[in-house]
Amino acid sequence: MNMLAFSMRKLGFLFILIVLNIVAHGEETKNFYIVYLGDSPLSKQSAVQKHIGLLSSVKGSEHGAKESIVYSYTKSFNAFAAKLSENEAEMLKGLDEVASVFPNRYRKLHTTKSWDFIGLPLTAKRNLKFERNIIVGLLDTGITPQSESFKDEGFGPPPSKWKGTCGRFMNFSGCNNKIIGAKYYKLDGNPDPADILSPIDMDGYGTHTSSTLAGNLVRDANLYGLAKGTARGAVPSARIAMYKVCWASSGCADMDILAALDDATSDGVDIISISIGGGTQDFVTDSISVGAFHALKKGIVTVTSAGNDGPSLSSVSNYSPWLLTVAASGIDRQFMSTVKLGNGKSFRGIGINTFESKEGLYPVVSGADVAMNSESKGNARFCFDNTLDPSKVKGRLVYCTLSQWGVDSVVKGIGGIGTIVESEQYLDTAQIFMAPATMVNSTVGETIQNYIHSTRSPTAVVYKSEEVKIPAPSVASFSSRGPNPGSHRILKPDIAAPGVDILAAYTLVKSLTGLKGDTQRSKFTLMSGTSMACPHVAGVAAYVKSFHPTWTPAAIKSAIMTTAKPMSKRVNKDAEFSYGAGQLNPARAINPGLVYDIDEMSYVQFLCHEGYSGSSIAHLIGTKSVNCSSLLPGFGYDALNYPSMQLNMKNSQQPTVGVFKRRVTNVGPPSVYNATIKAPKGLQITVRPTSLLFTRLLQKRSFKVVVVAKPELSTKFRVLSASLVWKTTHHTVRSPIVVYSLPD
Ligand SMILES: *[C@@H]1O[C@H](CO)[C@@H](O)[C@H](O)[C@H]1NC(C)=O
Ligand SMILES: *[C@@H]1O[C@H](CO)[C@@H](O)[C@H](O)[C@H]1NC(C)=O
Ligand SMILES: *[C@@H]1O[C@H](CO)[C@@H](O)[C@H](O)[C@H]1NC(C)=O
Ligand SMILES: *[C@@H]1O[C@H](CO)[C@@H](O)[C@H](O)[C@H]1NC(C)=O
Repeated sequence: MNMLAFSMRKLGFLFILIVLNIVAHGEETKNFYIVYLGDSPLSKQSAVQKHIGLLSSVKGSEHGAKESIVYSYTKSFNAFAAKLSENEAEMLKGLDEVASVFPNRYRKLHTTKSWDFIGLPLTAKRNLKFERNIIVGLLDTGITPQSESFKDEGFGPPPSKWKGTCGRFMNFSGCNNKIIGAKYYKLDGNPDPADILSPIDMDGYGTHTSSTLAGNLVRDANLYGLAKGTARGAVPSARIAMYKVCWASSGCADMDILAALDDATSDGVDIISISIGGGTQDFVTDSISVGAFHALKKGIVTVTSAGNDGPSLSSVSNYSPWLLTVAASGIDRQFMSTVKLGNGKSFRGIGINTFESKEGLYPVVSGADVAMNSESKGNARFCFDNTLDPSKVKGRLVYCTLSQWGVDSVVKGIGGIGTIVESEQYLDTAQIFMAPATMVNSTVGETIQNYIHSTRSPTAVVYKSEEVKIPAPSVASFSSRGPNPGSHRILKPDIAAPGVDILAAYTLVKSLTGLKGDTQRSKFTLMSGTSMACPHVAGVAAYVKSFHPTWTPAAIKSAIMTTAKPMSKRVNKDAEFSYGAGQLNPARAINPGLVYDIDEMSYVQFLCHEGYSGSSIAHLIGTKSVNCSSLLPGFGYDALNYPSMQLNMKNSQQPTVGVFKRRVTNVGPPSVYNATIKAPKGLQITVRPTSLLFTRLLQKRSFKVVVVAKPELSTKFRVLSASLVWKTTHHTVRSPIVVYSLPD
């Protein structure tokens, strides 16, 4: 079943296989390392000389050093990437100037009706003067400059703060006033057979995320007539800088991600959106975490996807406290097809089937009954490649049990009409098929199978999909869940945003599914994933910034979290571990009343408190070492000023007690805020003081929340959801308080 979970990430399918391959063969990739030096770069030239000097000392010659170095990071941090043996890596680690050495790894990537659904209508209030100067940076698979979403009619020249560059590359003739930056990063030198060395998007993902974030208004966008409407990004007037770090078949390398973040940070972008995940290690060696910390120091918010590894617990990635981590929820629309059987009965299946059915009913067979030979009998019901007898499939619909995506391509490839796929999972996301097909649950599946076996010549038809209204929002089954594997003190994911069946721009260079035999092409397509949810939040961060250009990344994040719409624990059983603070609410995020602000040294204190050594975090702030013992005094149990609170229950006879010190900053009019606590049975929560008086803007007030959890609650897995709300007549500032136990 593992394969299935992997392949659910439509893009992930390829990436995962390739990544595993690389590991299995242990080829060249294992030799790339990233080496951090213990201070900030002085000048590019001196930093590069220093890197070559250090490398020469382990390589034995300057020639050897120059041959092995692939990148000098010299803008926001001092580091380099080079091809090294394990031995050489160890030697470098031992040098005084070197703070740390990490192996390079490869990762995977993880309509706009969605904006209306979450309350950012076309008519929303805007601050266009600032929005035009907002630059959003995306690390993704590239972009499609031909797309109407990125035309620059009506755009002035790039804002003067922009320092990035844009070149001409294969099939890419340069930037315009909408796409103001476009670069690609491929430091390992290995060409990707499915891609080109150019910012052009050969995959479709980067085009999709960019248009969700900042695409122009495009009327009549649709996918073969489905999901018709006006496509648009959160901030249609903002500019886009694309940093292509992910490649169609080789994934995304850490050293490329770092290089792109080094550039983005100094290019002058306001917001960074990263829909990439997989293999987050910890707060201080993970390339996204490290790069985002340097971005934070320059006032840039980094928004990341939580991952598509749900619904298992602790599957969340990108969980550093300075990242804004996004889960995927559904909107109130689903795509369904009607399946009609020869006996007149009909059922509903889920999926996107763009094919009109003109010819009435087709003969239908069950994959299990048309095996190629006795050997393939066991696998034929899954309709794997080379398991079905083409002569018995030709001209027929085939009933298959889902174990791997792409059975539609297998059936079509041997002359079949299409397929009806039975599955227990993923029935909340519409997969795009390349032949007439749909997905049904096992109850419906059993009825269809019984019918197939009840008559001599069974027939059926799958009709073109239609939009169906459904209750929403709920968190998608694939969306990664907490608790945070990196720290039991920080709730992750932070927020949920639409990430199911999102219509946005696509490329014409690839078919809709990328499957063999697919001839469907479209300028817009539907995609699902936390990768689609991430640019929704990055877009709203840009929207908030257009009203409050001076706010810190932590303030923008706090505004987004404390104004989120609470989601239902009844519908989402993992509660905050699935949706964080709740559903993104753009209209309220620009006017939060209070914010929880955090400066960079508080994060460093937090890391010390989490047990990281002073030397392991030095490269984050560009010093030789951090003296953790001088930073710890006064930093209580949970003093990181996070907008949510989380307490892990100890399995003991004693109650678990958590003390959360917090400080809020007034960003609204003078007011008195009163506290409201909501707590389930077994939790006793108090806040002191219960009322906060603000007489002026930017005034700060501290308070303390004490949580006491009864010991008997800790014996089995549970998530207890409580909340603290600071309220005036005009503002509601809500923080979830999560108390959980995870006995082993
Ligand atoms: C580049 O553009 C040319 C001309 O439009 C086209 O034939 C070619 O397929 C493109 N190459 C790629 C890799 O997209
Ligand atoms: C299976 O799908 C049918 C049709 O959509 C629905 O009525 C039924 O409740 C589903 N059964 C289960 C167990 O989900
Ligand atoms: C670290 O800080 C502690 C407490 O302030 C101090 O006693 C100690 O000397 C410092 N260590 C170093 C190496 O500076
Ligand atoms: C806050 O509490 C004070 C004192 O209890 C009360 O007078 C005031 O009306 C409350 N304000 C709001 C907005 O509930």
